[in-house]
Amino acid sequence: MSVEAAHRPLPTVAVLATGGTIAGEAADAASTADYKAGVVSVDRLLATVPALGSIARIHAEQVANIDSKDMGDALWITLARRINALLAQDDIDGLVIAHGTDTLEETAYWLQLTVASTKPVVVTAAMRPLSALSADGPLNLLNAVTLAANPHAAARGVLVAFANQIHGARDVTKVSTYAIDAFASPESGVLGWVQDGRVEFQRRVTRAHTVESVFKLDVIETQGALPAVQVVVSHAGASRAIVDALVDAGVRGIVVAGTGNGSIHATLQQALADARASGVAVVRSSRVGSGHVMRNGAAPDDALGLVSAGTLNPYKARVLLALALAHGWSELAMLQSLFDQY
Ligand code: SIN
Repeated sequence: MSVEAAHRPLPTVAVLATGGTIAGEAADAASTADYKAGVVSVDRLLATVPALGSIARIHAEQVANIDSKDMGDALWITLARRINALLAQDDIDGLVIAHGTDTLEETAYWLQLTVASTKPVVVTAAMRPLSALSADGPLNLLNAVTLAANPHAAARGVLVAFANQIHGARDVTKVSTYAIDAFASPESGVLGWVQDGRVEFQRRVTRAHTVESVFKLDVIETQGALPAVQVVVSHAGASRAIVDALVDAGVRGIVVAGTGNGSIHATLQQALADARASGVAVVRSSRVGSGHVMRNGAAPDDALGLVSAGTLNPYKARVLLALALAHGWSELAMLQSLFDQY
């Protein structure tokens, strides 16, 4: 290390904890499935990684301590507001969110569209509770802070650091219920790697994000919540009952997770066409987990008034549709253009 580098002040990284298995605890160290997520405090979590002190000055906040299966609009709004406030401070260089793995990809994409900063924002998590033999959380946290402290991680959208890999918020998805490398970015691949203190990027994100996003958190805050958008799945034997119930309940948008290239059971497709005719926005995505949904491919989008989600999975399509509707954009061409851009 040069003399100059030795005297350079450490960057400051904010660590916002929201719960998850990374803050989970079991009765015994051999338990990796029977445990409670979201119980360990951010201070106890940070104390398990003394090496953080040589990478960054840490500013820690406990935003929540939940199992991420229970994530919802209110916490998303709180989280995005706090992140924007912290990143607007000159003394914060980057930010890490410790989260559960179950809805990590949805939160990461929500932040991708609502964080208004180019500073590094990194989401991380764990598959094994902190109490487990070979817990993966501490190393994932160390790698996440390493990434957030690195200036090369700036202006790349929201990143996910997991199992030494760096994923983009739009592409990443959970692909295993138990494995330590539980995340993948199907079709597009990882953005890079973070390992042993080194950060390596292999590609950039091309879709619009963060400071380029047209979505404004103020608009959502004024409304207090996102418009109601739900996901339904097409499958053998699908009926129209769920769609009809959602329309009766006043839902503003429906994302259908279709089979294959977003094809929809004829009965369900008729229900969705009726929903659209009654003013509900309908987005057609795929339940397959990789690939894209081609506009007017496996269903006549133009004729039915449906939007194609392209490569966005159903759960992220729900986030984008809810944000669009909150901004008053419900017309088909506008919605399709947003799905083509984000
Ligand atoms: C959660 O998502 O909060 C629980 C599961 C996990 O973090 O792996």
